[in-house]
Amino acid sequence: MDVWKAAAERARTHGDVLILAAGQPSTPAPRPVLRAIKTAVESELLGYTETFGILALRELIAEHHREKYGYRVDPDDVVVTTGSSGAFSLIFLAAFDPGDTVVVARPGYPAYRNSLTALGCRVVELDCGPQTRFQPTVGMLEALPQPPAGVVVASPANPTGTMIAPAELAALARWCAQHGTLLISDEIYHGITYDNSRTDSTTSSAWETSRESVVIGSLSKYFSMTGWRLGWMLVPSELRPALQRLASNLTVCPPAVSQHAALHAFGAEAAAELDGHVRRYAVNRQLLLEGLPTLGITDLAPADGAFYVYADIGHLTDDSRAWCADVLEHTGVALAPGVDFDTVDGHHTVRISFAGATSDIEAALSRLGHHFGI
Ligand SMILES: Cc1ncc(COP(=O)(O)O)c(C=O)c1O
Repeated sequence: MDVWKAAAERARTHGDVLILAAGQPSTPAPRPVLRAIKTAVESELLGYTETFGILALRELIAEHHREKYGYRVDPDDVVVTTGSSGAFSLIFLAAFDPGDTVVVARPGYPAYRNSLTALGCRVVELDCGPQTRFQPTVGMLEALPQPPAGVVVASPANPTGTMIAPAELAALARWCAQHGTLLISDEIYHGITYDNSRTDSTTSSAWETSRESVVIGSLSKYFSMTGWRLGWMLVPSELRPALQRLASNLTVCPPAVSQHAALHAFGAEAAAELDGHVRRYAVNRQLLLEGLPTLGITDLAPADGAFYVYADIGHLTDDSRAWCADVLEHTGVALAPGVDFDTVDGHHTVRISFAGATSDIEAALSRLGHHFGI
C-alpha cells in the first residue's frame, strides 16, 4: 500500500507510472456481468440477502466446483463472503481460539499472518524455500512439536506464484484430517496457471481429498472482479452454525448487488473473455522470464500460476523497500518489495506483477534495462 501511494504520487507529478506492483487484474468484470448489473440495479430490490448468499449463486458455485474438480458439492456446502478476505476472517474466528497455533508459509500472503495475530492466534511461519517450490510439505508439519490447530496453504501462491503438486496437496489434506488440524486451502488463483502439461502445475482442490478441509474461492483474480468484493468457501458441515452466527452479526450478508452480478460470471461467454486475460498473462510472464535474466535478475521462483514473478535481488540490494523506491523514482516502474510477504528474507526479494498490459511489461523491461545501464 506504501508503494501504491508513492506510485499514485509519481503518477500525479510525472504521469509516467507503470504499475507492476498491483495484485489485481487490469481489466473490468467480464461483459455478461457488466450487462446484467444494469438490469439488476433496475429490477432487483437489492436488500439484505440470506447470510450465506443467495441460493442461485451458491448453486452456481457448487456446480463450478463439481465441473472443475469432479467432487460432490451442494449449495449448502457453500458460504458466499465479502471477498475471500471476508471468508478468512470468518473461518479464523469460527475455527480457532486465542492461543491456537496456526501454520502458514513464509513467504506468503501477509493478511493470513496479520489477521490471525490480531485474533490472538500463535502464527508459526514455515520457512519455505526453492527446494519445496516455496510451499509447505507434510515433512515440515511432521517436524512441528505437535499438530497445529490449523494450516493455511495457497496454490498458486502470492507472492511466488508457485503451486503445490496435486499429490502433495492430497498428502497435506490427509495429514491434517488424521491429526485434527484444520486445512484451509486458498484456491483463489485457480484458473490462472501456465505450462499445464507439468503435473506440478495442475490445480487440484483440497476437497478432492478431504471434506474436513476448507476451500476458499474468490471472484477477484481469474474472474477479474476485485472491487466487487465477493468470495466463497466450501466448509465442513459442523462449522456452519458458528459461521452462520458470526456472518449474520458481522456483515449480515455479502453485497447483494455483487451477488446478482456474479450470477453471470460463470457462463461460457465470460469464460471466453477471462481465458483471453490468462493468455495475455502468459505472454507477459514469458516476457519477464526472458527479460529479467538479461537484466541480471536470474533467481526467480517457478511462476506456475497467478500473475507474479518473485525474484531474489540479493545481488542488487539488502533493502528491497529502498530499492523499489529508488526504481520508482528513477524509472516510474512500481514493484512490490518482498518485506510484507517475508519478514525474514523479504529485504532481498521483490514481487513483479504481470497482470497489466503487455505493452506495460515491455516498457517496464526497457526502462529497467536503461536504469541498469544495459
Ligand atoms: C493469496 C491471496 N489470498 C486472498 C487474497 C484476498 O483476495 P480477495 O479478498 O479480493 O478475494 C489475496 C489478494 O491479493 C491473495 O493474494
